[in-house]
Amino acid sequence: MKVGIPKETAAGERRVALTPDAPARLSAAGIEVLVESGAGAAAGFLDSSFAEAGARIVPDVAALYAESDLVAKVQRPSDAEVALLRDGQALVCPLQPLVNTDLVAAIAARGATAFSIDTIPRISRAQSMDVLSSQATVAGYKAVLLAATSLGKFFPMLTTAAGTIPPARVLVLGAGVAGLQAIATARRLGAVVSAFDTRAVVKEQVESLGATFLELEIEGGETAGGYATELSEEQHRREQELIASAVADSDAVVTTAAIPGRRAPVLITAEAVRSMRPGSVIVDLAAETGGNCELTSPGETVEREGVTIVGLTGLPSTMPQDASRMYSRNVQSLLLHLVKDGELELDFDDEITRGTCIAHAGRPLERVTA
Ligand code: NAI
Repeated sequence: MKVGIPKETAAGERRVALTPDAPARLSAAGIEVLVESGAGAAAGFLDSSFAEAGARIVPDVAALYAESDLVAKVQRPSDAEVALLRDGQALVCPLQPLVNTDLVAAIAARGATAFSIDTIPRISRAQSMDVLSSQATVAGYKAVLLAATSLGKFFPMLTTAAGTIPPARVLVLGAGVAGLQAIATARRLGAVVSAFDTRAVVKEQVESLGATFLELEIEGGETAGGYATELSEEQHRREQELIASAVADSDAVVTTAAIPGRRAPVLITAEAVRSMRPGSVIVDLAAETGGNCELTSPGETVEREGVTIVGLTGLPSTMPQDASRMYSRNVQSLLLHLVKDGELELDFDDEITRGTCIAHAGRPLERVTA
């Protein structure tokens, strides 16, 4: 089987779906890797590294799609890329099928078999394929670095001849994958960290990273897949009030709260921003789904009420080398799961295949979400 890796075309995207460690690992399963010339350049992986690792470099995207049995991507395909898909070809990329129904229908109409890598079931045997987790890890780390560079203060406590500097106080809202990585990173930089999540089960994980879990006496539900469920209106209002006082006491706040398929919950109101000290920072990782702060401007860094609010999106792409390495490992694990002796093996009794395969034999497939 030939697996093709095109150069990403979405604006600002610097990652690549497979890195040069892939050909050796995949060849055992009868997979040959083809790479469009320049596909890894923005992530620091040159054609020569891919070629030395056993991949074949293909001059352009049309040739890549024409030769590949399966195409793997970081971003969903553009209309032009969908037009290159052919009957019986397979596609692996994040598709958000519940939102992008027209795109899924268009891919199915080309006769392609599509695997949406962002709908991998969150079960332990699929952890190595979980791109949401790997890329959230990158985002959580980068969010703290952005907070540290936007803040006019040190993160660690410093005792110097020029006086003693107290450590920065960092608050992390939402302690899922990104939030836990943000906590760990802020701790490594020496900040005093506290965190809150509506899933009480994360309290122990927060504490094991050396942070304090805020006891707000607000607890939401959790789905079988481990995701948070939405709070009632009354609970949500109460949470906003309680968070306002924690926010006022923080130098930097990193927010990561999300409910799958919904607008991100607004946890920091405009009034709460006004209560923060001038020069404080909010990094809103939920900006793409509307933001956890009322004053976030998605895609931008703005200053409101003397507070810097970072609403940048696509953070994993700002660390393309390791983000690609992790993404590539996820794709490799999925391919090794789906391909046997160089052939795609579709077992719809398997939870991973059923959870990711969203188009096959000319039609979109029903799938079950978390
Ligand atoms: P996410 O990105 O959907 O949400 C981020 C966090 O926001 C979650 O921890 C959620 O509880 C929290 N949140 C939602 N509403 C909130 C509110 N109003 N206030 C404060 N916090 C709020 O979640 P993510 O990071 O994708 O993962 C969530 C969980 O999924 C993990 O902690 C884990 O239990 C499970 N998981 C399981 C995996 C596996 O077994 N393969 C892999 C990754 C995650």
